[in-house]
Amino acid sequence: MSLTGVKIVGVGHHAPAHVVSNEDLERWLDTSDEWITTRTGMKRRHWAADAEATSDLAAVAATNALAYAKLAAADIDCFIVCTVTPDYYFPATACIVAAHLGAKDKPAFDISIACSGFIYGLTVASGLVRSGVYRRIMLIGAETLSKILNKEDRSTAILFGDGAGAVILERAERNSFLGAELGADASRPELLYVEASGSRRPIDGAALEEKRNLIAMQGREVFKVAVNKMIEATDVALQKAQLTKADVTYLIPHQANKRIIDAAAHYLGVPEEKVVTNIAEYGNTSAASIPIALSEFVRAGRLKSGDVIVFVAFGGGLSWGAVAWEWQQAA
Ligand code: UT7
Repeated sequence: MSLTGVKIVGVGHHAPAHVVSNEDLERWLDTSDEWITTRTGMKRRHWAADAEATSDLAAVAATNALAYAKLAAADIDCFIVCTVTPDYYFPATACIVAAHLGAKDKPAFDISIACSGFIYGLTVASGLVRSGVYRRIMLIGAETLSKILNKEDRSTAILFGDGAGAVILERAERNSFLGAELGADASRPELLYVEASGSRRPIDGAALEEKRNLIAMQGREVFKVAVNKMIEATDVALQKAQLTKADVTYLIPHQANKRIIDAAAHYLGVPEEKVVTNIAEYGNTSAASIPIALSEFVRAGRLKSGDVIVFVAFGGGLSWGAVAWEWQQAA
């Protein structure tokens, strides 16, 4: 099969208006701004209002991406939402976003692979575009993690935030997708999971009582694997792209912890000014973190044609992945 190229022609992002600072958290948790800042790099996060669902955030991010690309929803051939906090079990959140945007009868589906969602989504969507199945795809990472957060658990409540980031992928002569490496290992799902909610343990009174319907994480264990897997995935993605670490212009990592980002960047030899971070403002927004960071960076005019970006993530699954991407500036 002969493959065509793919490029990003639009970016957009959105976060709920309600901001929760470290000082706010200090009011009900045994924690401190000092601990959160030094251990995670986070200062604030956005939490959705009761009536605000994942598709609401996703639709605004998508609308912003359409405006950036000067396109209409009718110009999009397929909608993909990467999320682990969907509006419903079904229908897929992507179907709701497409309907919200007025894109009638278009294919739409979700990808559920936690914090690695955008990396998997970018790989799948690029493949669909490059193989000629679709000309344009709206790819969105969107989460309302605050809805599944145990707000009394200081080890997780401080970490997660809500938001959405969207990119529009379009068929192109030149190919931006240089290489990818994806992986997953579910031998210990309890390292980072929501125990009760699915078919293995449906939510019942006991589950609610014990807060098993909310995020549980063994942070220290996850931290160790995260750094190693992000480095490994980046190395392999670069090899597949026939590039070396020296070719990387910018690293746009999943924003889970500033110390994880620093460790990965140090290994890759990418200096701090080439590492895109917005963790202080958003915390960990899972599948939304990379597209939000990318959208902010692009809108600030920071990328130019030929820049090589490594997108890299790690999260629940456990899962991980990296994509090497050459930026093409819109004409
Ligand atoms: O995006 C998905 C992937 N997720 C990740 O990659 C997260 C990976 N893990 C992490 O980022 C870090 O492990 C955390 C930020 C979650 C925790 O940082 P840590 O440096 O690994 O802390 P720790 O869990 O080893 O806890 C150290 C101490 C403990 O107290 P003792 O046992 O030493 O007395 C905790 O109870 O810090 C305590 N602690 C806190 N203290 C103040 C835990 N959370 C807090 C808190 N405020 N919020």
